[in-house]
Amino acid sequence: MAGFTMLIICFFLLSYITITTTLSLDTITLGQSIKDGEKLVSSGNVFELGFFRPGKSSGRYLGIWYKKDGEKSDETTVAWVANRNKPISDSSGFLSINAQGSLVLKMNSTNNIVWSSNPSTSLQNPVAVLLESGNLVVKGGNDKNPDNFLWQSFDYPGNTLLPGMKLGKNLVTGKKWFLSSWKSIDDPALGYFTYQVDYRGSPQLFLRMGPKIIYRAGSWNGLRWTGTPLLEPKNPVITYNFVSNETEVFYTFNIRNRSVQSKLVLNSFAEARRLKWIDSTQTWERFSTLPYDLCEDYDRCGSSASCNISKSPDVCECLEGFTPKSPGEWKIQEWTEGCVQRAQLPCNHSDRFRKHKEVKLPDTSLSWVDNDISLAECEKLCLNNCSCTAYANSDVREGGTGCLLWFRDLHDIRNLPVNGQDLYVRVAASELDNIDPMRQSNTRRRHISEKKWVIIIVTCVVSAMGVLVLGWIIFMCKRKLRIQGKTHNSHDINDNNEESKTDDMELLIFDLNTIASATDNFADKNKLGEGGFGPVYKGTLMEGQEIAIKRLSKCSGQGVDEFKNEVILIAKLQHRNLVKLLGCCTQRDERMLIYEYMPNKSLDYFIFDKTRRELLDWSKRIQIIGGIARGLLYLHQDSRLRIIHRDLKASNVLLDNEMNPKISDFGLAKRFRGDQTKGETNRVVGTYGYMSPEYVIDGVFSVKSDIFSFGVLILEMVSGKRNRGFCHTDHNHNLLGHAWRLWNDKRAVELIDQLLDYSYTLSEILRCIHIGLLCVQQGPEDRPNMSTVVLMLGGEGSLPKPRQPGFFAERILTEHEITINDITLSLLEPR
Ligand SMILES: *[C@@H]1O[C@H](CO)[C@@H](O)[C@H](O)[C@H]1NC(C)=O
Ligand SMILES: *[C@@H]1O[C@H](CO)[C@@H](O)[C@H](O)[C@H]1NC(C)=O
Ligand SMILES: *[C@@H]1O[C@H](CO)[C@@H](O)[C@H](O)[C@H]1NC(C)=O
Ligand SMILES: *[C@@H]1O[C@H](CO)[C@@H](O)[C@H](O)[C@H]1NC(C)=O
Ligand SMILES: *[C@@H]1O[C@H](CO)[C@@H](O)[C@H](O)[C@H]1NC(C)=O
Ligand SMILES: *[C@@H]1O[C@H](CO)[C@@H](O)[C@H](O)[C@H]1NC(C)=O
Repeated sequence: MAGFTMLIICFFLLSYITITTTLSLDTITLGQSIKDGEKLVSSGNVFELGFFRPGKSSGRYLGIWYKKDGEKSDETTVAWVANRNKPISDSSGFLSINAQGSLVLKMNSTNNIVWSSNPSTSLQNPVAVLLESGNLVVKGGNDKNPDNFLWQSFDYPGNTLLPGMKLGKNLVTGKKWFLSSWKSIDDPALGYFTYQVDYRGSPQLFLRMGPKIIYRAGSWNGLRWTGTPLLEPKNPVITYNFVSNETEVFYTFNIRNRSVQSKLVLNSFAEARRLKWIDSTQTWERFSTLPYDLCEDYDRCGSSASCNISKSPDVCECLEGFTPKSPGEWKIQEWTEGCVQRAQLPCNHSDRFRKHKEVKLPDTSLSWVDNDISLAECEKLCLNNCSCTAYANSDVREGGTGCLLWFRDLHDIRNLPVNGQDLYVRVAASELDNIDPMRQSNTRRRHISEKKWVIIIVTCVVSAMGVLVLGWIIFMCKRKLRIQGKTHNSHDINDNNEESKTDDMELLIFDLNTIASATDNFADKNKLGEGGFGPVYKGTLMEGQEIAIKRLSKCSGQGVDEFKNEVILIAKLQHRNLVKLLGCCTQRDERMLIYEYMPNKSLDYFIFDKTRRELLDWSKRIQIIGGIARGLLYLHQDSRLRIIHRDLKASNVLLDNEMNPKISDFGLAKRFRGDQTKGETNRVVGTYGYMSPEYVIDGVFSVKSDIFSFGVLILEMVSGKRNRGFCHTDHNHNLLGHAWRLWNDKRAVELIDQLLDYSYTLSEILRCIHIGLLCVQQGPEDRPNMSTVVLMLGGEGSLPKPRQPGFFAERILTEHEITINDITLSLLEPR
């Protein structure tokens, strides 16, 4: 009997526990609350509301997700988050509703309000209900109208568009509905990207990074956005809709068959993905992705040009009748300037329109639209207005109706394989008549140029053979000479020195007194800094010229060799991205090098400083990266000497008054012969954070060690962070390791310096990160050489996949990393 009573008590206890923990209700009323750990479930068990902790995040959030996703919480599963920017630090959060009808998310531990819905009005007896659509609504408890809401979560979309949600604007209240990405896969905070309808001209759908458009789906043509040919209106499962009337303008989609689940997610790496639930795998599978190819980048080809992906990588082409604005730039695939009319438009009734079939219509932000007139009337309107550049039907249904007019440059046109539209572009009559003769002359020109090529090739081959023969003869002669004069060449440096003095050393020998008076006798106020081998001063010569003087410290016996080295090497080098040595001074026991003065100091002065970094926008940074690359290319390949710098780093890149980079400090540079590809040393010198693994560990250096340093520099420029001393809460990796992790997680955008304004093209900056990772690969043989890097930086070609970087988990050299910052060190004496 006692056993039976126990059983009954247990049963009641158990059922009590299940009731309180699952609380399988879809409604919160006054006085009730949802605590962390409890859930609100929609009536048909499709959606769930509760607290979650995404990925590695330490905070907790209140969100709504498909119940079948269970505990998987990241940007593709969680459909809506209440407290996006304010995570709850413990598990004391709870959601309740107050008497005014406002949902309130509070922390019980601190009694702070984390989030609240704050509706503009209030009502009697409010309740909150999680609907089957995933919409969390607040309404009157006795209200029988199912659509009368005081507040609804569908009005505040996050990164997910569920069926029935709107993307657009309520013209009466001014409320906008748009998607905004998460900061990263597992950080719901407001991210970089938005997907929203733009109402200027004819409404269009844009994907933006901050204020900057990075992708344009285009204007609605009755069936789809003009740039989304695959959006099929007769889809048996999903219906797409665009509504534009006096009260609202919006885009929405709905599911015809309740057994199918589909949603649109704007992810943290700038893609709008349509996902479909697949029962067999129990996952969300990607159904389509926008943008999907190179031609989708907004305005890739500039004005009056069209992007044709079949011609990749040379994708841009002027519209017929147009010619590149800057032909030189166009040739090197620098398309942004676009194209201009080839012939002057007389602007009278002799003008004609050329029809372009199957295109994505140009940007309609500045267009004029009338949905009620025919194409013929549209043409007439355009012809009668000199500033009208093109026209098209605004609606493609019923064979085409309505009229769209463009008044300025035509931007962001591309050819589409299917479902494109017809665009009529104004050209001079002569262009239209001349088309056939033009084609002819083109082919004739091609014949001529083919002939030319044959001639050029033959000439080249013949002269190359001539050069070879000549070279052979000279080589044989020299060899004889060298064998005879072997003793002469043993004092390599001195000989070189001699040679350069007589040969081409245009070095000025400065008088010590001149230098002393230029620097006020090396006054402290003129001291610019302290390099590895001694202080650097600023000086002003009598004529007013400003110079920088590197004075080797007398006490360091070290440095004499480096001094000689630098004089010999740099005196022979002339390149706009190398700092210019003006002369030297070697009186008494002083050794000084005199350089041109760089008013903007060095790169590290800017790039690692919070305020100064902001002055370097992306165009400046990429210009600096390009300049350093060209300087290195010159050192490695193009100069008469082949030189490995061995100490490339941010503080060795100086900036002139136009922020042009100049590589400096050749104290450690090594010259190598043309056929020599690497050297070895048992004195490893350089700067930690920039040295390649094979150099630090084995003392082996080659041009590829410089490439490694360059790669580090690229990643530092993009992120604004130092490789050395980098730390992150998630891991122990350095900047390289961090970049590598983000890259593999497809989160490379997170590496981008937050202080950069939105002046950059995302694809360009991602490409830069990609190139940086290629340069810092573990294996020197995997790293590209400098000429390839320069091509990669300038070109559009596809890049190989990077392998694991060297030293990405570098915290192994800590005992040497102590205090000295950015001064060239020579600490290791391996083996
Ligand atoms: C808040 O904490 C107190 C004390 O632990 C507890 O009694 C109360 O039920 C909690 N309230 C909610 C809404 O969690
Ligand atoms: C605008 O369209 C919406 C959705 O179809 C509709 O509910 C609303 O009544 C319309 N407004 C007007 C003024 O036609
Ligand atoms: C809905 O889809 C399911 C599976 O795809 C199918 O079996 C069912 O017939 C469809 N129902 C309707 C009304 O189309
Ligand atoms: C696009 O490029 C392909 C391949 O060169 C060519 O066949 C096609 O005609 C081009 N399309 C247009 C519209 O120019
Ligand atoms: C249009 O202007 C051009 C150049 O000024 C002129 O040659 C042509 O006759 C004009 N045509 C008409 C129809 O006015
Ligand atoms: C041409 O169109 C522009 C833009 O709509 C308008 O401002 C201008 O007045 C028009 N010019 C004529 C001559 O109709």
